[in-house]
Amino acid sequence: MRDKAPETYEEKLAQLQELRYEAIHAGSEAAVEKQHAKGKYTARERIEKLLDPGSFQELDAFMRHRTSDFDMQKNRPWGDAVVTGHGTIDGRRVCVFSQDFTVFGGSLGEVMAEKMCKIMDLAAKIGCPVIGINDSGGARIQEGVVSLGAYGDVFIRNVRSSGVIPQISLIMGPCAGGAVYSPAITDFIFMVKETSHMFITGPEVIKTVTGEEVEFEELGGAMSHNTKSGVAHFASEDEDVCLEDTRYLLSFLPQNNLETAPRVRPTDDPLRMDPELDHVVPDNPIKPYDMRDVIRHVVDDGEFFEVHEHHAKNIVCGFARLNGYSIGVVGNQPAQMAGVLDIDSSAKAARFIRTCDAFNIPIITFTDVPGFLPGTTQEWGGIIRHGAKLLYAYSEATVPKITIITRKAYGGAYDVMGSKHLLADFNFAWPTSEVAVMGPEGAVNIIYRRDISSSPTPDTRRQKLITDYKAHFANPYAAAERGYIDDVIVPHETRPKVITALETLQTKRDPGPKRKHGNIPL
Ligand code: HXC
Repeated sequence: MRDKAPETYEEKLAQLQELRYEAIHAGSEAAVEKQHAKGKYTARERIEKLLDPGSFQELDAFMRHRTSDFDMQKNRPWGDAVVTGHGTIDGRRVCVFSQDFTVFGGSLGEVMAEKMCKIMDLAAKIGCPVIGINDSGGARIQEGVVSLGAYGDVFIRNVRSSGVIPQISLIMGPCAGGAVYSPAITDFIFMVKETSHMFITGPEVIKTVTGEEVEFEELGGAMSHNTKSGVAHFASEDEDVCLEDTRYLLSFLPQNNLETAPRVRPTDDPLRMDPELDHVVPDNPIKPYDMRDVIRHVVDDGEFFEVHEHHAKNIVCGFARLNGYSIGVVGNQPAQMAGVLDIDSSAKAARFIRTCDAFNIPIITFTDVPGFLPGTTQEWGGIIRHGAKLLYAYSEATVPKITIITRKAYGGAYDVMGSKHLLADFNFAWPTSEVAVMGPEGAVNIIYRRDISSSPTPDTRRQKLITDYKAHFANPYAAAERGYIDDVIVPHETRPKVITALETLQTKRDPGPKRKHGNIPL
C-alpha cells in the first residue's frame, strides 16, 4: 500500500490496479513454483480451466485477515487464502471457491471462511451449483479457536444447501482434520491421484496413537478413498482431467432442486433396436456378463458416466441420457461377486438414488441380483441396516422410476431393486429373467430335503424337482401374472420401450407424505 493517499482519478485508478495485481499475486513466486513442481495448478489457474473462458467474476479480492496474534498484522495479503466468485460452465451459472495453498498454505481462518460462506450463500440464494476446490493445510493455527468456529460456519451451509443446489468438491491437495467434513457433506467428491489426500488424522498421529505405520497415499490418497472407503466418487489422473470431468458431471445435473437437468439435443434414434442386447445374457445362469454392456447399448450413444466406479463394483451407478434426458442408472453387476448386494453396494446405490431424487433425475434400474451376501462379516457389519438404506432410498424416491429385470431377481433383493412394490412406475422383464424367492437348487434342497433323502435315487430325484421348479418359477410370468411386471419385453426393444416409459412419466407428480423428514437407518 502507498504511504500517500491518491488524489487524482488517475492515481486512484492506479491504486486499484496495484491492489488488484497484489491480490492476484498474493502467493510468493517461490510458493507458486513449489505448487507447480508438485504437478498442481494455482487456485486461479484452476478456476480459469474450470469455467467458460472469460466468465469468472471475482468477489472479495480485497478482503484481508484481521489477526494480530503471532505478528500476523505484518502479513495481510489481499484476498486471503481463497479465491471466490462466480462464472459459467457451458453457459450455466456456478459459484466457486478455490483455496490458495500459496497463501498461508491455504489454511482456513475467519476471513477465508467469510469469503467461502458468502459465495455459498449466493449460490443458495440464486439456486446454482457451488464448486469448492480444496487445497489447504486445515485450520489456520495462528487464528486458534476462531478457525474452528469458521469451519462450523461452512459446515452449516453445506448441510442447509444439501438437496437444494448441487455441491461438488474437488480435492486438489491436502484436506485434513475436521476440514474433510465440508466435502463429505457435498454431493460429489473428486480426488486427483498422487496430489490429493483426505484424512482425519495424519500418519504421525496414527503412529503415536495406535502404532500403525502408513504413508499419506495409502492412508488418504485418491485410490484409497475411491476403492476402500468410498468417501470419494471420482479419481482423476491429473488436475486437467478432474476439471474437465467436473464440467461433464454438471451437464447431467439441474441448477437446483426446483429445476430439471438440461435436455441435450439427441443424436441417437429413440426407436433404435439393438439386436446385440438379445445375446448379452448367457444361457448358463451362473455365467457372468458386464451390466455396463447392457447399459451402454440402451442409453444415448453408449455414453455412460460412472459414479463410484472403483467402489463396491458389484453395483454400477452413473449418469447417462435417454433421448436427450438426463437419467441416473443403477445396475447389479453380475461380473462382480455375481451382482450380490452387500453393505458397500447397498450404501453406494442408496446414496446415488437419493442424489438423483433430490435433483429430479429419473432412475433407471437394471436388475440381476441373486440376493444379499450371507455371512457373519455382513451380519455383524450391519447388512440389515445398510440394505435397508437401499430399500428406503428406492421407496422414498418420487422421480420417475423404471426397472428392467435382465436375469435374476431373487428374494428380498427382488423387492429392494426398484420393484413395483416400492412404487416403481414401469417394471419390465426380459424373457431371460427369473423372479423367485430363490434359485432352483436352493429352493429344491430346502423344500424337498426329506423327499430327496428318502428317494432310492436322490440325484435323479433332485434333478427332476429342479427341472419342475424351473418350469414353474424360473421365469418372469408368475410375477407378470400378478402385475408385478408390467410387460415382458424382447431385449432388443429395451431402448424404445424405456424411452416411451420415461416420456410418459414427464408429468409424474408424487408429493409424498408431509413430514419433517424421514428417519433413514443411517
Ligand atoms: C497456518 C499453515 C498451516 C496451518 C500450512 N501452513 N498449514 N499455516 N496454519 N494449518 C503454512 C506453512 O507454515 C507454510 O508457510 C505454508 O503453509 C506451506 O506449508 P508447508 O508445510 O511448507 O507445505 P508442505 O510441505 O507442502 O506441507 C503441507 C502440509 C503441512 C502437509 C499441509 O503444511 C502441514 O502438515 N500443515 C499442518 C496441517 C495441520 O495439522 N492442520 C491442522 C489440521 S486440524 P510458509 O510461510 O513457511 O510458506 C484442522 C482442524 C479443522 O484443520 C477442524 C474443523 C472443525
